[in-house]
Amino acid sequence: MSRLPLGSTTSLLVLTGAGISAESGIPTFRDAGGLWEGHSMAEVASPEGFAANPQQVWRFYGERRRNMTGVTPNAAHHALVAAEKRLGDRFLLVTQNVDALHTAAGSERMIELHGNLMRTRCSVCDRPSFADTSTYNDKLPTCETCDGRGRKSLLRPDIVWFGEAINPQLMNRISRFLATASTRRTPSGYADLVFLAIGTSGNVYPAAGLVNAVRGIGGHTYLANLEESDNGYQFQETILGKASEVVPALFA
Ligand code: APR
Repeated sequence: MSRLPLGSTTSLLVLTGAGISAESGIPTFRDAGGLWEGHSMAEVASPEGFAANPQQVWRFYGERRRNMTGVTPNAAHHALVAAEKRLGDRFLLVTQNVDALHTAAGSERMIELHGNLMRTRCSVCDRPSFADTSTYNDKLPTCETCDGRGRKSLLRPDIVWFGEAINPQLMNRISRFLATASTRRTPSGYADLVFLAIGTSGNVYPAAGLVNAVRGIGGHTYLANLEESDNGYQFQETILGKASEVVPALFA
C-alpha cells in the first residue's frame, strides 16, 4: 500500500465514520442492523421519537454512555493526531462519530458533525451544551434555565438526530478550509488537496457529499474502509482493510 501523497504544501481533509471506532469496541450502525432492542433508529434518534417517548430515547443514550467506560482510541485515531501535528492548519478532521474518541486521542482541528454523546443540551432553549456522563435511568432531566412554556423543558443528548439540520457554522468551516486549500495548486494544475474518508458507509449527507466537493475543486480522494462503501465509486483510490492497520500505513 502506498502512502498518501502529502507534500510540504498539501492540505488534508479527513472524514471518519463508525468504522474507525469499531476496533475500539464500539459497534457500527451497520452492525446493529439499524435496530436497538427491536426499536428502529428513527424511534431512538429523531426529534419525533424523543417527543413520543423521551424515556426510551434516554435509555438508549444512557446505555451508549455506559458502554463508553474503558473504551480507548486505537491506532487509527492516533495516526490522525500525528498527521495533524505534522500538517498544522493544513489539516482538518470531520467526524460523524459522537464517541469523542478523536478528542481522547488528542485531535484538535476537528469538527463533530453529528454532536457528542457525552454532552447534553436543552431541547427548547439555546443554553450552551455541557459535558455530561449521567445516564438518567430514574428521572428525565429538565432544564434549569428555561421553563419550556410553562412545562419544564427536557434536556436531550447533544446529538444531531435524523431529520435535524447540521449547524451551518460547521459546514462553513469545512467550506473555508476547502477554499483555502484550493488556492494551492500542484505543478499539474490540480488542487494541492487530499481527502481521506475512513470507516464510513457513505450514505448519510452532508458527510457523504464531501468526496464530490473535493473532486469538484480538483483534490485527490481516498477511501479506507473494511468493505466497498455505498459511494465508493466516487473515490479515485480505495484501500480495503481494517482502519487500525490501513490508516497508520497511509501515513507511514
Ligand atoms: N475498519 C474500517 N472500516 C470499518 C471497520 C474497520 N475496522 N469496521 C467497519 N467498517 C466500515 C463498515 O464496512 C461500514 O462501511 O465502516 C462503515 C460503517 O458504516 P456505518 O455503520 O453506516 O457508519 P457511518 O457511515 O459512520 O454512519 C453515518 O449514520 O446512523 C447515522 O448519524 C449516524 O454518524 C452516523 C451516520
